[in-house]
Amino acid sequence: MRIKNQIEDISYAQTKRFFEKRAEKYDSENPNAVTMFQDGHPELVKQRNAVEAQKLLPMLRLEKTSRVLDLACGIGKWADIIGDNFSEYCGIDFSQKLISIAEANFNSPRISFIAGDITIMSELLRENNKGKYDRILFFGAVMYINDSDLYKICDEMIRCSEEHTIICIKASIGKSERLTLKDFFSEELHDNYNAIYRTDEEMRSIFEQTFFRNGFELKDSGPMYENSELNNREETIQYYYLLER
Ligand SMILES: C[S@@+](CC[C@H](N)C(=O)[O-])C[C@H]1O[C@@H](n2cnc3c(N)ncnc32)[C@H](O)[C@@H]1O
Repeated sequence: MRIKNQIEDISYAQTKRFFEKRAEKYDSENPNAVTMFQDGHPELVKQRNAVEAQKLLPMLRLEKTSRVLDLACGIGKWADIIGDNFSEYCGIDFSQKLISIAEANFNSPRISFIAGDITIMSELLRENNKGKYDRILFFGAVMYINDSDLYKICDEMIRCSEEHTIICIKASIGKSERLTLKDFFSEELHDNYNAIYRTDEEMRSIFEQTFFRNGFELKDSGPMYENSELNNREETIQYYYLLER
């Protein structure tokens, strides 16, 4: 089903099942395809990944003391991208299979992963004896979260933030209108897919009611890929948002 301009919840059980199945396709030759899709265009995954790292990494202004929280981290590709400029990195994802791949790929006392739902991130972090973070990444997962939980996740991010924190969000958004894919069979992915593409206006309204009320400002935002060949969807576009307090 394709639903336009209406608020309709999607099923998390379906999304979790979808990513557990993706994890079975993991290929170390093109590791990021597991969460970046584009199954028919493996080169696009590599090009997009390079642009993403080149563009977003400087925005994070990482320092040796930075404590990085990576929400919906998948196989933890950002633990690799951030290089050595951090003191702690923690990735959370609700796909146990993706987390197992991440754990097998990284072996450092400064890097850890938690299998769990980001809607309850503060509880998960407390259970795992973690403190607060000053760099929070939320890349490629806003689309899998229903509206009420997205407000909750933003509030949870604020709860897990240090006084000075940079939050970077990357999301696929609707170019001109809100679009929900509900149990939609994707020819490209050979599976049912569930996702909500909000408009830029809707994203900003959510930030206004959460981050802006808690001292964060939107410092920058815009399309992720300038090159139109990397933006290969008709109705949606990848956008980044940089917030800071
Ligand atoms: C497209 S992938 C992005 C992975 C990674 N952040 C990246 O940029 O490559 C989306 C990820 O969101 C995770 N996810 C979706 N909903 C989640 C939730 N409620 N809690 C934790 N992880 C979630 C999925 O398991 C999947 O790994």
